[in-house]
Amino acid sequence: MPTLIPPDPPLSDDALALRVPSDAFLADVAEACSDPEIARWTTVPDPYTEADGRAFLALVDRDWAEGNAATFMFARHGAARLDGMVSLSFVADGIGVVGYWTAPWARGEGLATRALVLITGWGLGAAGLARIDLATLLGNRGSERVAQKAGYAGGQVVPRAVEQRGVRRPVRLWHRTAS
Ligand SMILES: CC(C)(COP(=O)(O)OP(=O)(O)OC[C@H]1O[C@@H](n2cnc3c(N)ncnc32)[C@H](O)[C@@H]1OP(=O)(O)O)[C@@H](O)C(=O)NCCC(=O)NCCS
Repeated sequence: MPTLIPPDPPLSDDALALRVPSDAFLADVAEACSDPEIARWTTVPDPYTEADGRAFLALVDRDWAEGNAATFMFARHGAARLDGMVSLSFVADGIGVVGYWTAPWARGEGLATRALVLITGWGLGAAGLARIDLATLLGNRGSERVAQKAGYAGGQVVPRAVEQRGVRRPVRLWHRTAS
């Protein structure tokens, strides 16, 4: 896998920008990932410690260096804190998988949708992917809505598709293609 180059200038719209997260945001990551909604709908460790945050940020760096995944924090222009995370993993020739969360202090502002639109445009454009997949744990209506608003189609249920902390759980599968 080639080394990934973060987009320069950063991906942005009139509300937010996507940047490679640094250790300076460790406390924000640890606080956000301690939120029960993030534990409920993602595979983050629960309980979530600062050591988990440190390991996550180290993995983000390694993934960028090894070309495995492009993980960005998103933050509103002028904000001192991060508002969320969005990540595109390169899983097979031409196919990526995206995931995201919005910190509890930033929800309901359209930020996850904006971040997903930006990373999807980059993934299917400059990053050269043909298709991006997204799995939402069954019942995650908020994330389903974000996916649909960002142009993802599908939504078929796949039983026992994702392991969440030792339990296999059903998901809805969504996708967007370059065409
Ligand atoms: C789901 C999540 C990412 C939404 O983030 P957000 O930044 O608040 O989302 P947006 O503001 O872009 O919302 C987009 C749409 O989804 C709707 N929505 C957001 N959260 C919702 C919820 N919990 N239930 C129902 N609808 C919801 C919004 O109302 C909006 O729709 P509208 O424009 O028609 O009103 C956020 O709540 C979160 O991080 N949840 C926990 C982690 C998670 O689920 N990650 C995704 C894993 S696949």
